[in-house]
Amino acid sequence: MKISYFLIISLLWKFVHSGEYLLASFNVRVFGQKKIQNQPVVDHLIEIISRYDLILIQEIRDASETAIEELIKQVNEANDNAFAMVTSPRLGRTSSKEQYSVFYRHEFFQPVNSYVYSDPDDVFEREPFNVRFQVSNWALPDLVISAIHTKPDDAVSELSHMVDVYEDLVVRWNIQNVLIMGDFNADCNYVRKKNWPDVRLRNDSRFQWYIDDEDDTTVRESTDCAYDRFAVAGEDLQAAVKTASVFNFAEEFHINMSVAEMVSDHFPIQMRISAQDFQTPAPKHYGNGSSRETSSTKIFRLLGILFECLVLGDYL
Ligand SMILES: *[C@@H]1O[C@H](CO)[C@@H](O)[C@H](O)[C@H]1NC(C)=O
Ligand SMILES: *[C@@H]1O[C@H](CO)[C@@H](O)[C@H](O)[C@H]1NC(C)=O
Ligand SMILES: *[C@@H]1O[C@H](CO)[C@@H](O)[C@H](O)[C@H]1NC(C)=O
Repeated sequence: MKISYFLIISLLWKFVHSGEYLLASFNVRVFGQKKIQNQPVVDHLIEIISRYDLILIQEIRDASETAIEELIKQVNEANDNAFAMVTSPRLGRTSSKEQYSVFYRHEFFQPVNSYVYSDPDDVFEREPFNVRFQVSNWALPDLVISAIHTKPDDAVSELSHMVDVYEDLVVRWNIQNVLIMGDFNADCNYVRKKNWPDVRLRNDSRFQWYIDDEDDTTVRESTDCAYDRFAVAGEDLQAAVKTASVFNFAEEFHINMSVAEMVSDHFPIQMRISAQDFQTPAPKHYGNGSSRETSSTKIFRLLGILFECLVLGDYL
């Protein structure tokens, strides 16, 4: 009987989690030796990271490359070793270099490939880092992520060249679906309204953007900029996007501005994606489409799993 309860719980967990994941992108302002020593800040970072199934962490500045190791160690202490990471080399033209790191729940995600864009014309300060994951309970063949933290003053040009990075990915990995994410610096002084027609990643209809121009991904009350964004290519992946939003951790965790600003000057952006099956037609556009899985099909699936549990439970 003990076993069948365990079975029920694990199958229910599977159901709850089946093919639906919460992803995020977070610029953790100058993450390095100083920040990892600040335990209250680290505790908030752990609290944030633990919310997600996969999270891109940017602005890791640490020549010794040990702060990120310490961070995932502490994240894992709080999460029963659920997380693993894939981290880029240190990137940047000057001695001030940064790394991208993707933390993911290894129960659901398996990195199968990754590379840093070769950037033949040196258009990127920090070349995009591309990672291909195999995903459990996922109707698409994989999930490909392209991480970018643009140089603020070159945001218009770097965002345009993300189209070339996408095309490189399409050829190399023979794919169409790519989730581009990061601190695009896509607002305020760096990308102005008049610049939008020049941003190829925005102008090219193959890419669907999430997070509104009117959203605020910055922590400081005096700033109101939608710097952090998702841009998704591929109709199947676009159809899998259910929601996208800014995660205001200051409000959510009831922490005041002076503490929040020590955590970062950016809020994470988050996205719920679901690719369980594509038997029902998927909405093409974000924002006004209804969820593909209606509550009645969800209940039928749940009943099926419960039935399975009872039958299996009898045999165990
Ligand atoms: C943006 O897209 C429109 C429509 O496809 C096109 O006419 C225009 O030239 C594009 N602008 C740039 C700067 O590529
Ligand atoms: C903010 O919160 C911290 C920790 O709870 C506290 O030490 C600090 O005094 C607070 N600052 C302000 C300005 O309220
Ligand atoms: C959803 O948006 C698309 C494109 O913006 C539009 O063509 C369609 O009519 C909208 N559907 C509904 C139900 O509002």
